[in-house]
Order: sequence, then structure tokens, then C-alpha cells
Amino acid sequence: MKDKREQTIGRANVLPVSSTVLLPNTESTLLMAKADRDYAKHLGTIGETDIALPLKQGVDHGNLKADDFYRMGVLLTTGAISEGDDALQVQAQTAERIEVKELRIEGSIVTCTYEPAPARIDLDDKGREEILDYMKKVVHEIATGFPGGAQFDEMVKGYTDVDALIIQLARFMPLSPEERYGLLSADSLKERSLLFIDQLIRQKESLELNMRLNEKFSEEANKRYREQVLREQLKAIESELNSEDGETASKKDYRARIEASDMPDEVRKAALEEVGKLEASGSEGFEQSMIRNYLDFMLELPWKREEPVPVDLKAAREVLDARHYGLDKVKERIIQHLAVTQLKADKRGSVLLLVGPPGTGKTSLGKSIAEALGREYIRMSLGGIRDEAEIRGHRRTYVGAMPGRVLESIKRAGTTNPVMVLDEVDKIMPGGFSGDPASALLEVLDPEQNNTFTDHYLDLPYDLSDVFFIATANSIDTIPAPLLDRMEMIQISGYTPDEKFHIGREHLVPEVLEDHGIAESQLTIGDEALREIIEEYTVEAGVRGLKKQLAALARAASEKIVEGDGDLPYVVDTEVLEKVLGRKVSHHERAQADNPAGVVTGLAWTPVGGEILFIESTDMPGTGEVTITGQLGDVMQESARISLSLLKSRLPLGAAGFKEHDIHIHVPSGAVPKDGPSAGITLFTALASLATGIKVDPKLAMTGEVTLRGIVMPIGGLKEKLLAAQRAGINKVLIPDENVQDLKDVPDEVKDQLKIVPVMTVEDVLKEALGIELPRVEHALMSSAALPQRAPMV
Ligand SMILES: Nc1ncnc2c1ncn2[C@@H]1O[C@H](COP(=O)(O)OP(=O)(O)O)[C@@H](O)[C@H]1O
Ligand SMILES: [Mg+2]
Repeated sequence: MKDKREQTIGRANVLPVSSTVLLPNTESTLLMAKADRDYAKHLGTIGETDIALPLKQGVDHGNLKADDFYRMGVLLTTGAISEGDDALQVQAQTAERIEVKELRIEGSIVTCTYEPAPARIDLDDKGREEILDYMKKVVHEIATGFPGGAQFDEMVKGYTDVDALIIQLARFMPLSPEERYGLLSADSLKERSLLFIDQLIRQKESLELNMRLNEKFSEEANKRYREQVLREQLKAIESELNSEDGETASKKDYRARIEASDMPDEVRKAALEEVGKLEASGSEGFEQSMIRNYLDFMLELPWKREEPVPVDLKAAREVLDARHYGLDKVKERIIQHLAVTQLKADKRGSVLLLVGPPGTGKTSLGKSIAEALGREYIRMSLGGIRDEAEIRGHRRTYVGAMPGRVLESIKRAGTTNPVMVLDEVDKIMPGGFSGDPASALLEVLDPEQNNTFTDHYLDLPYDLSDVFFIATANSIDTIPAPLLDRMEMIQISGYTPDEKFHIGREHLVPEVLEDHGIAESQLTIGDEALREIIEEYTVEAGVRGLKKQLAALARAASEKIVEGDGDLPYVVDTEVLEKVLGRKVSHHERAQADNPAGVVTGLAWTPVGGEILFIESTDMPGTGEVTITGQLGDVMQESARISLSLLKSRLPLGAAGFKEHDIHIHVPSGAVPKDGPSAGITLFTALASLATGIKVDPKLAMTGEVTLRGIVMPIGGLKEKLLAAQRAGINKVLIPDENVQDLKDVPDEVKDQLKIVPVMTVEDVLKEALGIELPRVEHALMSSAALPQRAPMV
């Protein structure tokens, strides 16, 4: 034995291999460093034996050392060489496994002496079959949950050789050089198979983890994903059907179609290279279909840049007016933006950002802008996106790789200059382990970069600079600052009941009727009923709930119409409402009939519109401790403390009782994020009411920050807060004096219904809320005459 081996020691050229699993006696595509191009071409021509030898991790290809190589390799015969993305692809047939004895590196030429070192074949036919079946089973489990999986599964079924299957599967697994070498260096077939199965199962588990993480995908993502799977399957079936005679025809076809396309030269060159690969690649169906998918995608993408068409601002305004009721300021800003974008020499507009509560028409405005500009409209929902790949795609080396949503949308639009609505940018998740979607989005939106946007799948620059981007958000708080910097913000507020009525009458009712295929002659919704839906069946800043309720009525009506039940039109009056829509929304957000002392109504701003909230304070025997509950943020807790100190300075006698009592401040209502300083005067009033025992009118609401010196500071979101107050049945509101200037933006309808009282100091607040008159002096010591007779805690 020993003798025989010594006889076969030989000398060979070494081919350094970087990322393929090398196994004996199989056909494979080797990946080789590009730097070794000249060398690769020499292989097989030198007339000596060649050896493929794996490289270790992190090796400098330009300067290989003996230490960079592993010891076990395989003999091989090389075939065609083609250029891959990051490496050269060399078609090869491997033979026996060998062990390198002595490596010699001269410049870029590597040679070695070697000895055969065949691994034991310790599996019989039955054993092999079992192993194959097991691998296929694991692949099947992976495939059922993965786009493109079905096809993958199908491909795997055809394998009858364990090593060949390992090589094929390993190409799609993120194995380290060490793990790959582990497979080659295993001393028996069984050991190798088990090692690989272990790697495969780990891969499956990490994929499953990925899938679980992705479960929170928006509905749309799920739909897209399903479509993708179906499309992959369809392609697989098609290629199956065409496989014989269709094949060469379609290859030629690609060449012709690419030549005829509008691709820029650089892109066309890359596409033709892919066609070359398609022609060169062997019978492996899977790889071919990957290349085809890629080529199809390239061909479907629009490449031809549209001639800019001047915008007719007047016509644009007409479109906006026809589609949207009210919103005058918003429309004006949009038209201005269009005008400015048009004038700017480089015509790269900044991105428009529409911010406002849900159902205020942000998304539909985007659509109308597209119509006004006569461009294609596409909407990309960003809600819940947490993976960079959603935006920018997967590299093609991944199983089921797909382009990102940006290019996918452009492809659907079919033009290079669509209006793209980036819906709900404030709902992008912060970047996880797989890259930050926000920074990918930044590249999409940045005019400095987006003319060479690179999708991982396409892997070539694509020019997005003609796209008109419009983003929408409920709140700017969660939008990363660099993104926000690139956007021109337009604020949209909630609607008054009257505006809702008009929107309902003029837009929503006709829309809903059309959606349900009901003619106007078949259903009538009375004015009074419409107002009642707005007042009693919805509590919202926008009109989404209103539209839903109208749809419920339409469904009820269709039922009647189909059954031929009763006379037409079906008339919806206030009685019908109760029957069809059920009980009125009972809202804790409505003003109460009576509040005990210590409870005061406040106003809050939230991303979904204004809200009223109640601040409740109560006391119990104790030692002067303060407990604050209701999950208040730090700033609000601080305001509570400021209020208490302030109260002690302003109403020392009233607050004296606090020493023997514990105070508990609670802010109910889970839906309202409770932070920020604007509840300052409300907290102060609640404590003052508690201390004095004077009840505060439940129909009085207030908002304002308060300082330790008792000055009332301005707050944000005044309009939303006043709309909410009106919605909730409040009739008097205290606002900071400095906010009076903001009242010009508040609709008259709201101002007519609310008594709005500006306040400058806490003395003003006490006077309006509790009827206590204090001298307006800083650090005033309370005169006992101003105190009511009874203090509750004495
Ligand atoms: N001012 C308006 N005029 C007409 N319809 C409106 C108006 N505001 C909202 N709508 C309608 O309300 C529905 C919800 O609007 P949408 O654009 O989805 O709101 P958002 O994106 O702000 O949540 C749509 O049917 C839209 O047409
Ligand atoms: Mg929307």
C-alpha cells in the first residue's frame, strides 16, 4: 500500500479556490479570485495535472503564501471559464482527493507535490439513499416556507449522488471557508454527510428564525411574497414545458431583446454577459432559471428616460380641487412645490412629506398629484419594514433572491418618472441585524446619490432621479433626522365635523356606492343620518371610520337590494343607523357630566389627532409622598412635580394638608402617549382642585406648559387639540396666551363653538378653573381670605 502511494506522488499546478465546496468525483463550478485570471487560463494547457486547493479565511489573493492554503484538495480537469460577479467561475470535473505535501509559490504560480488521500466510502447503496432522502426532506421543509422554494425543492429531487447534492446545496448556504473545508477533510463519506446535514439543519433553523422575524410583515409584503412564489412556480413550469426546443430560441431571443432595449451601454454589456453565462452553463436547471429571472427583470425595467413635460399648474389645481374637499392651504403648498420643482435647473425636486392623522387624505393626495402631473402612480407601503433588503433587494447568490421594492415598483410603473408614494415612512422599523432600511431609503431619496441607486439584486446603478417622491407620515417624531432633512413637510390637520360632512356627502358616499355597485337611485343617506354618523359613530381626526361606517351601510343596502326586500331607494335615516351600525361609540374620550374635585380635563396631541384626557388626583392619609401612575413619560412626571411645588408656593395653606397625606396622580386612557410638558397647567389645576375641594367644570379643558415661577408657556398642536375638544363636547378651553397667534389656523366653526380663554400665569388658570382670585405677584404668599372655608384634608 505504502509503496503504491509513493509511486503516485506527483507534481501539479494548484488552483486556489475561494468559495466553493470541493468534493471528489463531481462536476462543479469553481469560484476563483479574479486576480488569478491569467493563471486560470493557463490551467490545463501546461500539460501537467491540476489540483484545486481551498483557501483559508481572509486571504490576500494578490499575495498568496503557503500558509493560506488548506492541505486537502482534489485533482481536477477544467473547462469553460466565465466572469462572475465577484469571482471567476470555472467549470470543472474533480477526481480523487489528495493531500498536499509541499507547496511552492513563485510569483503568481503555485505548484505542489501531493499524495492521493481518498476518503473511505462507508455507505452502501441503502445508506446513501437514506442520507439523500433525509437531505431532501430537510430541503423540502426549508423550501415550503421560502420564495422560489418549490422550484428548489424540485431541483433537489433529481439528485442521486450525495456529494453532488452537497455541492449544489452548499452554494446557497453561508458557510465559512472552514466549514466548507470540513466537508472535504472529513475522512469518510458518512462522516461528511452527517457533517453536512448538521450544517443544513442549522441553516434551516436560522431561516426559520428569519421567517419568524419577518412574520410582522405588512399584508402587502405577504401578498408580494405569495405572488413571487407563484411566479417562480409558473416560471419553473414554463421552463419545463419549453425545455427541449424552446430553449435555444429563448436564449437567442434574450440577445435580440437586450440589443433592442433602451438599456444604457454599461447595463446592456452586463446583460449580454449574463446571456453568455446562460449559453455556457450546463444542464443545471436551477442556475439557468436564476439567470433567466434576472434577465427578465432587466428587460422589464424601464430604462428610457422620459422627456420632461411642463406642468400645467392651473390644471393641476383643478384636479386637486375635484378630488379633495377643503385643504386649501395644503393644495396651495403642493402647487407651489410643483412650481418650484419645475423652475429648478437640475429639476431634482426635494421630497414632499405629508404629515397628519390617519384618514386625512395623505395617500389619496399622492395619487391625485400623480394624476395632476399625468404620471404613473405607485405606492410603496413602508409600515413595518425592518430589513434593508425590502428596499434594496437581496444579492443574487441567495435562494429566492428578489429585487427590492423600489425597483419592483418602478418595474410595475413601467416608466422612469412615476410619482412614488412612500407611505408611512414613520413606521419603518429601526435597522436590525440585516441592515438599516432607513439608510437604504436615504440613498433612494438623496438627489446626490439616487441617480446611481444600486439594488443588490440588479447590482447595477439605476437612475431614480426622475421619480417624484411623496412620503406620508402620522408624526415626524420617529422619522430619522437625515431623512427628514431631505423632505419638504406639509402638515395636514384633522377635519371639523362640518368638513367631514362635506367630504362624506361629496366624496365618500359616491365612492362607497361605486365600490359596492349600488346606483344612486338605490340608496339614499340622509343629511341628518350622515351628521349623526360623524358625531356619534366615529371618534377620529380623519374620515377613515366614517368611510367604514358608510361601507357597512352600503353592504346592508346591497343585501336589501338583492333580496328585493322593500322599496327603493333604501333610505338610511337615524333609526336605520342604530339597527345597522349597532350601538353608538361610547367614548371615554367624551367630556364627563361631572368630575369630582381633583379631576381635570386636559388636551393632548397624538399622531392620530388630538385627544382629550383626564388627570385624576386623589389623596389618602400618609406622609406627603407622591405617586404618579398611568405610564407617564419623564417630562410629564417632571411637570407633576413642578405643579406640586408651585401649588405649595401659591396655595400654602391649601397645600399644607398634603403633609399628612399621600397624593396619587393618575392619567387614565391607554391609547394616548402621555409625555411632554403641555399638561402642566392641567396637572396644576388638578392638584389645586384637590387641595381646595373645588370642583372643576368637566366641560372646561386646558393645555399649557407651566414653569416653576408660574408662567404659562406655549404648546404645539393647538389646532388638533381644539378639534378634539370640540369633538368631545367641551365648551371652554384655556390656552397659553402665546398661542393666540395660532388661532388663525383654527377653523371658524371650531372657534364659534368653543370659548377660548388665553392665560398667562397660573393665577389666571386658578381664576378661570376654580374661581379663586390671587394677587398676580411672583412668589405671592397666599392671603387666607382667598381660601375657601373648607380644605378637604383637614
Ligand atoms: N379632503 C378630502 N376630500 C375628499 N376625500 C377625502 C379627503 N380626505 C380624505 N378623503 C378620503 O378619505 C379616505 C382615506 O384617505 P387616505 O388618503 O387613505 O388618508 P391617509 O392616507 O391620510 O390615512 C380616502 O377615501 C380619501 O379619498
Ligand atoms: Mg395613508
